[in-house]
Amino acid sequence: MILVTGGAGFIGSNFVLDWLAQDDEGVVNVDKLTYAGNLNTLRSLRDDPRHVFVRADICDRAALDSVLAQHKPRAVLHFAAESHVDRSIHGPAEFVQTNIVGTFTLLEAVRSYWGTLPPLKRDAFRFLHVSTDEVFGSLGADDPQFSEATAYAPNSPYSASKAGSDHLVRAYHHTYGLPVLTTNCSNNYGPHHFPEKLIPLMIQHALEGKALPIYGDGKNVRDWLYVKDHCSAIRIVLANGRPGETYNVGGWNEKTNIEVVDTLCALLDEMKRKASGSYREQISYVTDRPGHDRRYAIDARKLERELGWKPAETFETGMRKTVEWYLVNGEWVRDVMSGEYRKWVETNYAQRG
Ligand code: NAD
Ligand code: DAU
Repeated sequence: MILVTGGAGFIGSNFVLDWLAQDDEGVVNVDKLTYAGNLNTLRSLRDDPRHVFVRADICDRAALDSVLAQHKPRAVLHFAAESHVDRSIHGPAEFVQTNIVGTFTLLEAVRSYWGTLPPLKRDAFRFLHVSTDEVFGSLGADDPQFSEATAYAPNSPYSASKAGSDHLVRAYHHTYGLPVLTTNCSNNYGPHHFPEKLIPLMIQHALEGKALPIYGDGKNVRDWLYVKDHCSAIRIVLANGRPGETYNVGGWNEKTNIEVVDTLCALLDEMKRKASGSYREQISYVTDRPGHDRRYAIDARKLERELGWKPAETFETGMRKTVEWYLVNGEWVRDVMSGEYRKWVETNYAQRG
């Protein structure tokens, strides 16, 4: 069995669903169910014995020890994090707590569990840490893409907390020999993306007739990767990555934010035509994000060269799939936005201890 943290969030849930669609090896899914975690996403696994859900905080050492002892995973894949840059600007404390203290607590629990394994299982064990390209800071227009050798220069409380977690993971390999792997990925998009992030927020606002709020001049660049391609990269790194190594993951899809929103508007104009005019008319420029990184871009050649990974989707095919998904899954969006879902989870889990 493998253990996944944060498997009720955007990327973690896509990973769990993809894994169980391709593999019979079970998954124990440890998630605190913050506002970003949603069990509805995993509804199709409700009666599937291969999926065990445990509601726990990665800062809770006793809970982690107990899950590890009970399920004896051969690998831990660590997705759980506070992930939204804007939230980290308004309230950085949660980011330090989950991303740094939580990763530290998880590493300590895993180190202790790993030490109890017999030699062959110890050698085969892996701790895969899912991180971000934001730890490298911001690029100028003509700079080369981030490689695995780029120096860390995080600029937001979110990216600083992720950088801290990356350093701890690295140190646990160097000092204790824990067989760790780290992936640093660019911006993901696709199904089950929480509608606080650019792409799902713009789709939702467009459909509701609201303004499409572009920060600053709209020319900040992100490098977009369809979430299922991120999941396939993680599977390959888990299977064949070299312990102690880091792997950059990206889709070679650099786009300005205004290009992204233009693409979304064109797809919506085609698939969900308005009575009159274009969704583009809803675009509105708003005050910039403080400290807004100008450009991210990933050089993913190491992953291709060493492990043979390539993304399956282009930006065009991935965006079309994404818009289609949001058009037929309005109920999922309404559930995560309404607050009703959170109340239900509180009610359901409070009585289970
Ligand atoms: P998300 O915010 O959608 O989901 C995070 C999940 O972690 C949620 O289910 C939440 O309930 C859970 N969680 C939060 N705090 C927890 C805690 N203390 N204990 C246990 N569970 C907790 O995030 P995401 O976009 O799916 O990102 C997943 C990982 O991938 C993160 O580590 C993020 O830094 C990284 N990443 C994200 C992107 C992206 O574009 N979204 C790109 C590169 C890397
Ligand atoms: O690069 C990887 C990172 O990508 C991940 O590590 C983060 O977890 C993930 O949230 C994402 O961070 P960004 O800050 O790049 O994503 P976000 O969707 O918040 O914003 C994308 C760009 O769009 C960014 O330049 C800010 C801009 N933006 C965002 C929102 C929410 C807007 O212009 N308007 C908006 O309303």
